[in-house]
Amino acid sequence: MNVDPAKLSLSNFLGGESDDPLQPPPSFTNWMQLGAWAVELYEPELLSTADARTTINYAGKPQSVINFCSYNYLGLANHPDVLAAAHEALRTHGLGACGSPMLSGMTDLHRELERRVAKFLNREDAMLFNSGFGGALGTISGLLRKSDVAILDNRSHLSLRDGAILSRCRTEKFEHNDPASLDVALARQKGRRQLVVVEGIYSMDGDFGNLQEVIDVADAHGASVFIDEAHSMLSCGQHGRGAAEHFGVEDRFPLVYGTFSKAFGALGGFVAGSKETLQYLRFYAHPYVYSCALPPVVIAAILKALELGTSQPELRAKLWENAEYFHAQLDKLGFDTGASTTYVMPIVIGDRELMYRLGHELRRRGLWVAPVDYPAVPQNRICFRACVTAKHTRADLDEALNILEDTLVPALLQKQSA
Ligand SMILES: Cc1ncc(COP(=O)(O)O)c(C=O)c1O
Repeated sequence: MNVDPAKLSLSNFLGGESDDPLQPPPSFTNWMQLGAWAVELYEPELLSTADARTTINYAGKPQSVINFCSYNYLGLANHPDVLAAAHEALRTHGLGACGSPMLSGMTDLHRELERRVAKFLNREDAMLFNSGFGGALGTISGLLRKSDVAILDNRSHLSLRDGAILSRCRTEKFEHNDPASLDVALARQKGRRQLVVVEGIYSMDGDFGNLQEVIDVADAHGASVFIDEAHSMLSCGQHGRGAAEHFGVEDRFPLVYGTFSKAFGALGGFVAGSKETLQYLRFYAHPYVYSCALPPVVIAAILKALELGTSQPELRAKLWENAEYFHAQLDKLGFDTGASTTYVMPIVIGDRELMYRLGHELRRRGLWVAPVDYPAVPQNRICFRACVTAKHTRADLDEALNILEDTLVPALLQKQSA
């Protein structure tokens, strides 16, 4: 491929170039070598906890950073009570679940968490998955059939899209948060069972799902709506029941899905809804039936995180106060944060090479934000993503803003005038 490597992206290497599928395309390996300096920003090694200030391995040395990368929204990943609960479960239940929940992996702790999640969300039942990705994929693929259609917001997470692909149903996309576009998609697929798939907070853009309008349009077509509350569960809504609670539309979603890897600070996923639906899903969601249950030690930690997250609303209040402050300051500095109105904030750079160069500069200066490249976002929206948490102090936020101002503002001005 004789193309400027800076103009290539992961979407250019999907064709098989060799006779052996176990051999990656040589052009990909070459591209990776040329871009090794940029790729270094990925798979960073965390040398400590996922707290607001932590240490990562940068260029072979420990580097102290302010952490805007981890989804530890309420700071529960390293909470002493959570760690104590995990230690206790390690003593009583050992490390692994050692089997699928169907056959041997279900413990009393798992059952307790199912009950607590169902009660928390005012649902009849809940079931647990050993990963959020598997939970979304398993739920969509376990419920949809070949003759159905999944109608997904075009900014939907891959776990949802892959679930639809696995079910072999038809898939349709509608423009992000756009009820008119959804209306057209639903009309086009009339005559089939339809499931509209939305998110509480979109993970790359950091904006809320346009829930009320989307549900109204879906209702008008007799379609069901499924909500992924991965980034909103426990961190949004007065009681932490997510974006659906925030917008007062919980009862319009028969099924709600979330992860334990974000505000819960742990790992895994869940879906909550009617007993009948979940009884069916327990037998048809492959990542549930054919994969080992979460370790009891993780379940005990999640139980404690749920207790803390529901009994201490001040954690959510702090998260939102921090998010509002950080947003306001980013706006003052003139950064493009797209449609974000939450604690997930893109900072748009819009140029791949510049983004990677600045990403190194930020790490060197002690600020850890995530690089987000095409195809995760459109080419002109290549950005850093910053996740604010309840654990960031005002000093952390101000120091981060100073670094962003010193590093990004001159580079972006220069880009504009070029
Ligand atoms: C919207 C959404 N759904 C599902 C997932 C998968 O969750 P997990 O990382 O817990 O596997 C993610 C992960 O970031 C997500 O952003």
